[in-house]
Amino acid sequence: MFNLPSPLQQINSPLLKQSAVNLWLKRDDLIHSQISGNKLRKLTGYLQQKPQHIISFGGAFSNHLHALAAACQNQQIKLTAIVRGEASQQHNATLTALHNIGANLHFVDRQTYKLRNNADYLAQLQANNPKATIIPEGGYGHLGLHGLATLLNEVRQQLKADYFVCPVGSGTTLAGLCKHKKHHEKLLGICAIKGGEYLAQEVAQLAQRATDDFSLNCDFHFGGFAKIKPELIDFCIEFYQQHNVLLDPVYTSKAMYAVYQLIAQGHFTKQSNIVFIHTGGLQGWQGMIERQLLSNLQINALGLN
Ligand SMILES: Cc1ncc(COP(=O)(O)O)c(C=O)c1O
Repeated sequence: MFNLPSPLQQINSPLLKQSAVNLWLKRDDLIHSQISGNKLRKLTGYLQQKPQHIISFGGAFSNHLHALAAACQNQQIKLTAIVRGEASQQHNATLTALHNIGANLHFVDRQTYKLRNNADYLAQLQANNPKATIIPEGGYGHLGLHGLATLLNEVRQQLKADYFVCPVGSGTTLAGLCKHKKHHEKLLGICAIKGGEYLAQEVAQLAQRATDDFSLNCDFHFGGFAKIKPELIDFCIEFYQQHNVLLDPVYTSKAMYAVYQLIAQGHFTKQSNIVFIHTGGLQGWQGMIERQLLSNLQINALGLN
C-alpha cells in the first residue's frame, strides 16, 4: 500500500555543479497518493496505537486533515475534523475530499480554534469523547516523532547524508529528525510561517535536544503562511520543468527556493550530500487554483490541468 522506502533522487543543475554540492530529494511525496510526504511519517506513531476514533484540527486547506482522513478511511477509524472557518468554505477541494470519505467536519470560529492547544478545552473535548485519541494540529507531539526515525534509517541505507533539509510548519518533522539524528548529520529547517523564530524552542523541547542541534531559517516565508509570490511560482515551474518534480505551494517550494539561495551563498560544505525531504502537500495547489492565485498559463506549466 505504501511505496517504502521512498526513492532518493539526485537533482542536477549548473548551480549545484558550480557550488560542488550534491542535492538529493527524498521522494516522500511518492509514498502514497493521499497519505504522502511527512504525513505518513507523523501519523505512524498515532496509528500504531490502534485508535477507534480520532479528533484532530486544521484549516480549510489542511494537508494534515486531508491525509489523516485517508488514513482513517483505510483503517476504518472514525474521524472528527475540527476545522477553522465557516461552513460556507466547506465546498473547497480539501474539505469535499474529507467529507466524501466519511470524515465528520465540525466548523469552529477563529476564537474557538485558538483554543486547540488549551488544556481546559482539550480536557472538555476528551471528556465528551472518552474513547477518542486527540491528535494536535499538524500531528504535533511525541507520538508524531516516531516515524521520522524510519525516514532517517531509510536514507542511511541509501547514502551518507551530511545535511537534511525540511520545511517547517508545526515543527514536528524537524523535531522528529532532530530526536533521531546521528551526531554527524546536520539539520536545517526552513520555516513556512512569518515570525516562526519561536519554533526553535518548541522543536528543541519536543525533541529533547538543544537548539544548537539544528538550524531554523525564517527568512523564506514569502510574506507569510500560504502566501505566494510570482517569483516563487516561477521557481516551481522551472523546477518542475527541469526535474519533473512538483513542489507544493506552501512548504516545499519555499524550502527548496531557500536551499538554492543558500547553496549560491556557499552555506553548505563543498562535496557534501544534502538530502531535501519532499514532504508532499501537492493537494495544496487546488487551494491556490480555487483562490484564483494562478493564471491558466501557470496551471498548464505546472501540469495541474
Ligand atoms: C507538505 C508539508 N510540508 C511540511 C509541513 C510542515 O511539517 P511540520 O508541521 O511537521 O513542521 C507540512 C505541515 O504539516 C506539510 O503539509
